[in-house]
Formats: sequence, C-alpha cells, structure tokens
Amino acid sequence: MANEISSNFETVPSRGQWASHLGFILAAAGSAIGLGNIWKFPYITGEYGGGAFVLVYLICVVIVGLPLMIAEIMIGRRAQKNPVGAFQELHHKSSPWQLTGWLGVASGFLILSFYSVVAGWAIAYIFKSIVGFTGSPEQIQNQFVELVVSPYDSILWHSIFMFLCIAIVIGGVQRGIERWSKILMPALFVILVGLMFYGLFFTHGGMQALEFLFKPDFSKLSAEAALSALGHAFFTLSLGMGAMITYGSYMKKSDNILKNAVIVSFLDTIIALMAGTAIFSLVFHYGMEPGQSVGLIFKTLPVLFKETGPGISVPFFILLSFAALTSGISLLEVVVSYFIDIRGWSRTKATILLGSAIYLFGLLSAISSITLPFRGKDQGIFDILDFVTTNYMLPVGGLLTCLFTAWVFKRKAKIDEFGSEGFLYRVFDIIIKVVTPIAVIMILLHGLELLPFMDYGK
Ligand code: TRP
Repeated sequence: MANEISSNFETVPSRGQWASHLGFILAAAGSAIGLGNIWKFPYITGEYGGGAFVLVYLICVVIVGLPLMIAEIMIGRRAQKNPVGAFQELHHKSSPWQLTGWLGVASGFLILSFYSVVAGWAIAYIFKSIVGFTGSPEQIQNQFVELVVSPYDSILWHSIFMFLCIAIVIGGVQRGIERWSKILMPALFVILVGLMFYGLFFTHGGMQALEFLFKPDFSKLSAEAALSALGHAFFTLSLGMGAMITYGSYMKKSDNILKNAVIVSFLDTIIALMAGTAIFSLVFHYGMEPGQSVGLIFKTLPVLFKETGPGISVPFFILLSFAALTSGISLLEVVVSYFIDIRGWSRTKATILLGSAIYLFGLLSAISSITLPFRGKDQGIFDILDFVTTNYMLPVGGLLTCLFTAWVFKRKAKIDEFGSEGFLYRVFDIIIKVVTPIAVIMILLHGLELLPFMDYGK
C-alpha cells in the first residue's frame, strides 16, 4: 500500500525526494519566505510600534525558531512521513503525540484559507501595476480600499490563487515545487535589494526607517505585541504545523540539517528586514502612518511605483505573488500529504478535495475583508483566523514538537539525524530541552496576561 501511494512521487521507489542538495533549501526557503515577510512583518511592526517588537521577534527566531526548525526537519527525515504519521512512526501507532500532527493539519487548512485572500490581492496588483498608478498618494492608497470592498474582485483573485496552488501540488514534489523556486526566489531577492537601497539612499525616510525598526522602545511593547512577535516567528519560518516535517521527509540523508536550517532562517529574516526597511523608508518619506494594518504594503509601495513605472512594479508584484505561491503550496502540501499517507487517497483526489474545501472556507475571509477598512482591529473572521492560528495554534504545535524532540525522540536517532554528537549537538539539546519550551510557555502565558509576576493593570 505504502509503495502504491508513494508512486505518485516520481523518483525514489519509496518516497519523493528533492532532486538536488539545493532542492531542500529552495523549497524550504520558498515555504518560509512569503507574505509573512513582505506583507505581514512590516504591517505588524508598524502596528506594534517598531524596534522593541522587532527585537523580540529576532530573539524568538534564534531561541525558538531555529531550534524548532532543526527539530521538525529531524523528525521528518527520520520518520519519512507526514506530520501525523511521523509522530506515530517515531513513537507508536496510537501515540497521543500524533495530536500535534492533527493540530498542524488543521492549522494548515485555516491559515491557507485567509493567506489565499491576501495572495489574491498581490495578484490583483500585478494587473493594477500594468495599468499604472496615477493620481495623488491618497488616490493611490484608495485603490486598495476599492479592491477589498468589492466582493467580486476579492473572490475572483482568491479563486485564482487557490487554483494555482492546487494545480502545482497535484504535480508533486519535484515537478511542482522545486523547479519554480530555483528561478524565482533569487529574482525576488534581487528586486528587494534594489527597493531597499532606493528607500535608504533616495528617499528622506531611510534613517527614520532604520531607527523605527532597530531602536527598541520597550514602553511600546504590550503583552499582545510580545505574543505576536513569537507567533510571527512561527508563521514566517513556517513552523509549528509540520510543514518542515513534511519537507524534511523529502530531504536526502546526506544533507546537513543544521546548516540547511541556519541558511533558511537567515534568508527568511534578511528578506523581512529588507522589506521592512524599504517600506518604512517610503512611509516616513511621504509622511504616512506606520500602523496601517493589512493594507500597508498595498498602500505605500504603489506611491513609489507611480514614479518608477511598471518596469519595477510589475516584476515586484509577480515575485510577491510567486513567493506567496511557494508558501501556499507548502500549506496545502501538509494537509494533502496527511490524506495521502494516512487515508490512502491518491494525490490528485486529496489535492482537489482538500484544496476545494479550503477554497470554500476561504470565501468567508474574502468576504470578511470587504468590511476591513471600515472597522477596528480583531473583528471579522479574517483577523480572528490570523490571530488564533498564528498566535496560539502554531506556538502550541511548536511547543508539543519541542517537548517530543526533547523527551520522546530517541537519543541515538537524534544524534544520527543531527550528524554529530559534539558540542553543537549538546547546545541544541539544552536549548530544545530548556530554553525553547520555557520561552514559548512564558510568552503564551504573557499573551493571555497570566504571568504571575507581571502587572497587567488589573
Ligand atoms: N511562512 C510563510 C510566510 O511567511 C507562510 C507559511 C507557509 C506558513 N507555510 C507555513 C506559516 C506553515 C505557518 C506554517 O508567508
């Protein structure tokens, strides 16, 4: 049975595998780098006041994100299974740890449903860029509002994005995911470097942007901001729901997990910081508000693009849509691989059925965004889904993965996957046993305003 199912992947007899050493890095970076870096990071940084939020986020990347990425890849490559099957494989068939995998499958389903709506906006902006941005900065910003309040537009673009995700995931591991990442991820990098340099040296907002991003003012750091910084570290690195377990399961035995995880986390962080620098330079140059919620990049960048013309804006939104696509694919792949491995469905059947279900559920977010510009924060299904999945479901999934790796995953197998038993392994072992779980638990409690020694003004 297992072989029959896996025959949908094309290479090795037992299971799909990346074609080259770069394959994992590209696909994992493709999963990690997405709307989280370019759309979400700048807008939540703007909302939570800048520097202090960025600092907490960076700390979370290092002490929570990186160790967990290593752990997820180790679990995936060891078990050669989807997130649910992996916990069964490494523990036992009815192991309670498989709940972690189910939580991940549910998270993937919910995240993709609203992610697709934002990705749809990015696709819409490709066409807006071709037409060109004209008028005053206010008029350009209003184009975003017009887009999201039109039910037909939101639904149309959401449909197109989900269709693309489904088509690619049906294609399977190599044909679908790896090939495209190779070309388009480096292109995105180049264009972002350009935008960042433009922001830093050709606008009057460069210095202020750097100060906003990198000068922490802890008086602005609310409990919710700290929780969101943790949640964002999970979201942007695609952690806490088994995406890296799934991608790790396609990784070659000869690849070095630590090295790959460091590279992916580093690339992801750099891209977010570059996007933030570019966008806030413009925000300050034009005297705009940093806290513009979900519309931030769609409102600020086009004001610059009016001057640079479609030569820059069209490639930018194409690459942004592409970055969203490689992430969307990884979200769908987790859900699909569960139904392939455990339920024995064919890849095509699983992808079409699950993809359609996510699409239908996502209509709620597409419609919810219609009222978006007119209402306060955290209302509507879009915001609630984003908040709950990112800030609670992913950290809880990550915490369980961490505890599993620390205390259940067999030591010999861990060392074998890690590749050595030396100093680096011992550091990893201590971090995953002590530092990561304590950090996640504390921030979760802090987010719920439950830390005993803090004064929450109640
Ligand atoms: N990391 C992606 C981004 O930053 C989103 C994403 C893809 C994701 N796969 C994931 C988030 C798995 C959480 C879990 O846009």
